Amino acid sequence: MRGRSFGVVLFCLGATAAFAQPGQPWMNTALSPDSRADILRQQMTRDEELILVDGFLGVAYQPGFHEPIPAWMKPLLPVSAGYVPGIARLGIPALTESDASLGVANGGNMRPGDTAVALPSSLLTTATFSPTLAFEGGAMVGREARAKGFNVMLAGGVNLAREPRGGRTFEYAGEDAWLAGVMVGESIKGIQSQGIISTAKHFALNDQETARTVMSVTIDEAEARESDYLAFELALERGDPGAIMCSYNRIKNVYACENPNLLTDMLRSDWGYKGFVLSDWGAVHSTVAAATAGLDQESANGSDRSDFFGNALRDAIVAGQVPESRLHVMVHRILRTMFAKGLFDRPVVKGPIDVYGDLAVAQRDAEEGIVLLKNAPAKNGSALLPLNATKRQKIAVIGSFADKGVLSGGGSSQVHGIGHTESMVVSLGGGTKVIDGRRWQLPQDKAVLHATAPLAEIRKLAPKAKVTFVSSSAIAAAVAEAKKSDVAIVFAWQYMHEGVDVIDLALPGNQNELIAAVAAANPNTIVILETGGPVTMPWLDRVSGVVEAWYPGNGGAAAIARILFGEVNPSGKLPVTFPMAESQLPHPIITGQRPDGRIIPTSGSPTAYDVIYQEGARAGYRWFDDQKLTPLFPFGYGLSYTTFSYENLKLLGASTIKAEFDVKNTGTVAGKTVAQVYVKPPFGPSRLIGFQKVDLAPGETRHVTLYADQRLIAMFDADANLWRVADGDYVVRLGSSATDKAAVATVHVNAGTVKP
Ligand code: NOJ
Repeated sequence: MRGRSFGVVLFCLGATAAFAQPGQPWMNTALSPDSRADILRQQMTRDEELILVDGFLGVAYQPGFHEPIPAWMKPLLPVSAGYVPGIARLGIPALTESDASLGVANGGNMRPGDTAVALPSSLLTTATFSPTLAFEGGAMVGREARAKGFNVMLAGGVNLAREPRGGRTFEYAGEDAWLAGVMVGESIKGIQSQGIISTAKHFALNDQETARTVMSVTIDEAEARESDYLAFELALERGDPGAIMCSYNRIKNVYACENPNLLTDMLRSDWGYKGFVLSDWGAVHSTVAAATAGLDQESANGSDRSDFFGNALRDAIVAGQVPESRLHVMVHRILRTMFAKGLFDRPVVKGPIDVYGDLAVAQRDAEEGIVLLKNAPAKNGSALLPLNATKRQKIAVIGSFADKGVLSGGGSSQVHGIGHTESMVVSLGGGTKVIDGRRWQLPQDKAVLHATAPLAEIRKLAPKAKVTFVSSSAIAAAVAEAKKSDVAIVFAWQYMHEGVDVIDLALPGNQNELIAAVAAANPNTIVILETGGPVTMPWLDRVSGVVEAWYPGNGGAAAIARILFGEVNPSGKLPVTFPMAESQLPHPIITGQRPDGRIIPTSGSPTAYDVIYQEGARAGYRWFDDQKLTPLFPFGYGLSYTTFSYENLKLLGASTIKAEFDVKNTGTVAGKTVAQVYVKPPFGPSRLIGFQKVDLAPGETRHVTLYADQRLIAMFDADANLWRVADGDYVVRLGSSATDKAAVATVHVNAGTVKP
């Protein structure tokens, strides 16, 4: 608790319960949020303004914080990531901040009984390719946040998954800017539909965890505009988040949270953003540079080296180093956002959560984002999936924690889901691994499982089957059980955690060996993957089925079982490319990775950890296209229990591209697919320019029309600061993945420019 007295804190905590009064002029809802903020700001003293720009570390995380606080007050304190006191005199509510990438996080200091519904990982939600589901998941988080007394959700992770080994790949929305922008924008919109604020984060280029606090990322400005920055630009336009969180890293040697090019030139001047910029936890390194570059609020000052926006900002204003008018702007942005998003007019009130309603949202999400990657026996024969639920058969469930629950990713986004008990915490990792002659120390982590258990859900759906379970450590026992069974279902995991990247894309431990051994014992082997992102599959040609279930959340086990038995027809598509091997990636080894696999400490020399994206905008499938590499599974890929055709592609080109076509369900069961349109412009690799998920009965045809956002077919001209569309012929591909060519046609587009 640096720079604050408890007297001040207790005064402020009182303010959490204080609501604004209807008679106060700034409570006139007929006025715009900006006018209301102006009126209110003028009532504030400088010290009150300073309170709003200087956040606390979430009180429950603060060592020793609870000691002087009377027992009766403890339950009133938010258990959260961050807290900005309100001002009771003026009825300004406190900002109560919780992480919320995959549900309302309750990781660090769980209160007994404080569970939340765990959504699937954001990557799974993105794999639904359904903006509607992204919105519904967001709205669910927003409802639970209100019920738990939070009014700021630290959500909206939209960093591109350009590094598939990135420890937070599961928290992000894949490798494509358009897909990520649309899906994260919708999720933010959903959260904010509940009258609270959502952030978008981590602005910008914090695409790997290794060295995240010290690395300096270098990328060509124009290429960043066409990739990572574009994802933020689109998410901001679509979701209008109240706040944006600047990231830990440096960009061309300037910390993101004191980077005027990022926080002012691009964010304000080019994009016209009106919300406020808050810092990541520990990402502030200065007072004057940060305040003048565009940081509006220091988060959780207890996690920065010093309290940069407390007394230090007051001193800088008094000394004339930061103009007082800058403080007014910071406060204006915070207040106008609180008005705009509903914090004054619809204060959060604690109450129960709708467990069953919210679980249904999580399960729907999982059912549409789980991806069927393979459904063909090694040797001829018909597809093994879906399994027949009414048959008397022997099913061996093998591996992982299938008898307990499904895996979740770790870090600040951690949710302890509904049904959590101590036995749902399992130890993973540890040990060493030799890669290219170097011995790596693997981090030891405690992973949290979510109820319910796939084993129980499988037994529920197949009452006539004899379903047995063998854990992954016992390969010989698993092989013996597989031999005696009609079908073997192997559950495999890859654990990801904020703060550390995975060393490679291999399934950890003995899992590859286990799968190969089981597949050799029983040709009807199905692998269910619970992974944060892509993994390699050396056993792929020996198994009959592969289902990518990601981290599927509280509804995940039921969703997996329903897909296995055909109650749900899979419709998820990959939002990331699955490489054959790490050698296919732009960075075969993650820049700056240390042999102990741990994050490099903040005190390291910045130049030692330059991360150079020489691949520029060619992240993910664009890289594979550009380098003519064949991946294991391409971006956009995913199978169904039915088949689809894509026909009658008609294109219209002028200033942008309009594509019209028909999608038909040519199989015998109802199903959903995602029609995807890619363009290869005259100057570079392919880009996704539109997608639509369609739900079709057998034999049904749907006509789809898509218009490309002009920026998706343009190049950014950094000198002129505008987008340029080149005159020329553009090759358009329609199909069901980044490499599918169901229909191909060419269209002429006229030269043009677009202002950012
Ligand atoms: C650091 C993480 O990078 C960020 O995503 C999170 O919101 C904060 N910690 C608060 O927990």
